[in-house]
This record gives sequence, structure tokens and C-alpha cells, in this order.
Amino acid sequence: MQHSARKLSTIITGDSQALTDSFAEDVDKGLSASPKYLPCVYFYDYHGSLLFEEICRLPEYYLTRAEAEILRTFAHEIISYMHPESSLVELGSGSCTKTQYIIDEMLKERDGIIYSPIDVSREMLKQSARSLLERYDNLKIISVAAEYEEGLSHIDTHTDEPKFILWLGSSIGNFEFSKAMNFLKGILRSLRPEDLILIGFDLEKDKGILEGAYNDSQGVTARFNMNLLARINRDLRAEFDLDRFNHHAIYNEAEHRIEMYLVSTCKQEVPIADLNRSYSFDKDEKIHTENSHKYSPEAIAALATEVGLSTVGQWSDSMEYFNLTLFRKRRR
Ligand code: TRP
Repeated sequence: MQHSARKLSTIITGDSQALTDSFAEDVDKGLSASPKYLPCVYFYDYHGSLLFEEICRLPEYYLTRAEAEILRTFAHEIISYMHPESSLVELGSGSCTKTQYIIDEMLKERDGIIYSPIDVSREMLKQSARSLLERYDNLKIISVAAEYEEGLSHIDTHTDEPKFILWLGSSIGNFEFSKAMNFLKGILRSLRPEDLILIGFDLEKDKGILEGAYNDSQGVTARFNMNLLARINRDLRAEFDLDRFNHHAIYNEAEHRIEMYLVSTCKQEVPIADLNRSYSFDKDEKIHTENSHKYSPEAIAALATEVGLSTVGQWSDSMEYFNLTLFRKRRR
């Protein structure tokens, strides 16, 4: 009886308008800089999020499969560390496909879960909440449309339960090492001793395999990268000709990261109406759009030490391509 009375709800909250407002400003800043860059958070409008889902299914993009294998194999063990009243929080939840391994295991042990996905795509949040609610009838979903920090502070002010935070997909790799540290230090300040955070790290490996994952043969990653320009065209009334830019991704061994660029194939001027100006590009001039840092086990340990996290458990896939580490706040 208690069961049927459980409220199934999905609440979309958070200030995604702030994100739209800063888009124009950030585009202007990045395209005026030298070298030029664009912040990678803007990849994930609805269209970009769908393209990213497609990337996750590519044969070359081993990351998603490796991470899913770890979750499938070890979800039971992973959640054994979880406080029995924890709510589940996820940073950059996307389609929530991998989250289901965790939810399935949790529901074997209790009869309800509060799940708070945080994502910048409101549409994606709506869609994935809808499909999760179809699949599970004892889930309460509080979706937060925001960037990570804002989303987390929103959750902190609205919930009281211990938290189990998921940060999957090697999203941490999209931060510079020092930024990842600062971000985790910020999270740590709001963590309680019983809270846990599970982070997905892509491991260093053969350069050919790494570069293949970001240069797929079907050109989906190229379209994903290029969507950034298409989005500027759509949202800021710009005139980027997508045929005049190329996708370029290389592994920088010294920096342990994949670097992604859009390269201008010719000298050109591109007007952006909403910014009341145009931007010039030289032939072969690059716009830096993303880094994806690859970790060694030592680098993961160094990050934890630096930030003040203790490792609770660590899991890898059978190829040892990917790593999931569960952390808690270090006790002093
Ligand atoms: N977090 C993902 C990664 O680093 C994001 C990603 C995958 C990505 N492929 C991409 C970002 C292509 C931009 C372009 O692997």
C-alpha cells in the first residue's frame, strides 16, 4: 500500500536561462582571444546531446562500453558502500543509460530512490526522466537544469539525505588538472562523512586507440564538434559556413590529453549578428574546443591526495581502458 502511495514526480528546476545569457559573452570572449577557443559546455544543447549519444555508440568510442562493463560487473559491490538512505545525484547525466545499472542494484535493497540528475540540456533532462519513470515506479526524480556548481548548490539547499554522486563518462577529463582539483575541493566542502562520489576516468593507452575514439570513421565526432558553430549560427544569428572548417583531434602526449579543434580551411570573416561584429580567421587558424585528459593510476591517486579525498574502491574493465574510483572525504 505504501508502495502505491509513493509520489512519482519529476521537477525541472535550475536557471538554464543564465547559461543562454552567458553564451553570447563567452563566444565573443573566446573568438576574440588568441589562440581562439570555445568553452566545451556549449556542445550540449539538445542537438549536441543527441550527437553525443551517437558518439557513445560508435565502435571506436570505447569509453562508454568500458564504463558500462564496469558498472554492469561491479554495481552491486559499488553500492555496498552507499549509506542506505542516500539520494543519487548525477553530474552531466545525459541520457542516464549507465545510471540504470546503479538504480537497478539500489532497488534490490530498498523500495524508493530520490534521483537528481544535473545537466545543461533541459530537453535531455525531460526525455531521460520520462523514460526512467516508465521503467521504474519507485523513483522520485528532481532534475536540475544547470551547470555543475549551481546544480549542486541547488540540491544542497533542497535535500537533506546523504548523497551518492555520480560523475561518469570521463567528464572530469574535460577539466584541466588544476580546475578538476578546484572543482572537487568545492564539492568536498559540502560533503558529509557518509557522502560518496564515483568518478569515471579514461586511462592512458595506445595513442592510436585514443585518437581513433575522437576521429571516428563515420564522422559523428566531427559533426558533434561542428555543432558548436551550427549552434552559434542558430542562437546568435552567425554566418559560419561549416564547409570552411574541419574537425581536428590529436593526442598530446606531454599533456596526457586529446585536444580538439575546429580549423579554418581558408582566410575568412564571419559575421555574428547578435554580437554586432565579425571575426576573422586565417587559413589553418584553429579554434580550441575541448581537451580530454587521460589519467594514469598515479595521477588519480595524486588528485585524491591533493584534493583531500580517500579512495573507497577502484574498478576497471577487462581491457583496463577505463577506471571508476569511489571516493569519500578524507577524515582528519
Ligand atoms: N567527456 C567526453 C570525452 O572526453 C566528451 C567527448 C567525447 C567529446 N567525444 C567528444 C567532446 C568529441 C567533444 C568532442 O571523451
